Amino acid sequence: MEILIETERLLIRELLPTDVEGMFDLDSNPEVHQYLGKQPVKSKEETLDVIDFIRQQYSDNGIARWVMVDKETNDFIGWTGFKYVTESTNNHVNYYDLGYRLRQKYWGKGIATEAAIACLNYGFNQLGFHEVFAMADCDNEGSNNILKKLGFSRIETFDLDGVPHHWYRLDKSDFNREK
Ligand SMILES: CC(C)(COP(=O)(O)OP(=O)(O)OC[C@H]1O[C@@H](n2cnc3c(N)ncnc32)[C@H](O)[C@@H]1OP(=O)(O)O)[C@@H](O)C(=O)NCCC(=O)NCCS
Repeated sequence: MEILIETERLLIRELLPTDVEGMFDLDSNPEVHQYLGKQPVKSKEETLDVIDFIRQQYSDNGIARWVMVDKETNDFIGWTGFKYVTESTNNHVNYYDLGYRLRQKYWGKGIATEAAIACLNYGFNQLGFHEVFAMADCDNEGSNNILKKLGFSRIETFDLDGVPHHWYRLDKSDFNREK
């Protein structure tokens, strides 16, 4: 499997059907889903459908979320990277969204930040992105902290299925200036 990005602690690559155990541990945890609509998965079949859905985006859009594994142990940490969003969200369509979701045992170690910086560098400077958007539930302190640390500008607050979310944008020039 091709490694797309290597950081100090992580290898970042495409998601595979063999990631089902790690993905199930991630998405069946209600705490992980606290700010994601509170609908954790209940079965590995559901997780396999999610994996298929993401892998289909690699074919359709040329990009989708990537997996982070621990460089030392090869353990599945979670996913990060970009989704090319083709359905209208906060009146935007056909844009790159940055996201991250980690298994709970990996929280609080700076991993989401480390991975996001590497993905943004890859997106802007290898894939030629000009701007990247992101959003987070206003109450999701961790995610909002990361986006601010990464240099994203908070543009506005909008309603996502009845839940207030912050909407962020980061331009290539601003990212490269702050690097
Ligand atoms: C949100 C999440 C990605 C954070 O990952 P992480 O690897 O623990 O984040 P980091 O360690 O890189 O933390 C980045 C900053 O946010 C802070 N932070 C992280 N989680 C926090 C929390 N729950 N509350 C307050 N601050 C938090 C950290 O202290 C750090 O700030 P600092 O550098 O000033 O100390 C992780 O908790 C997660 O996967 N949550 C479930 C899924 C999710 O909500 N995804 C985001 C959807 S928008």
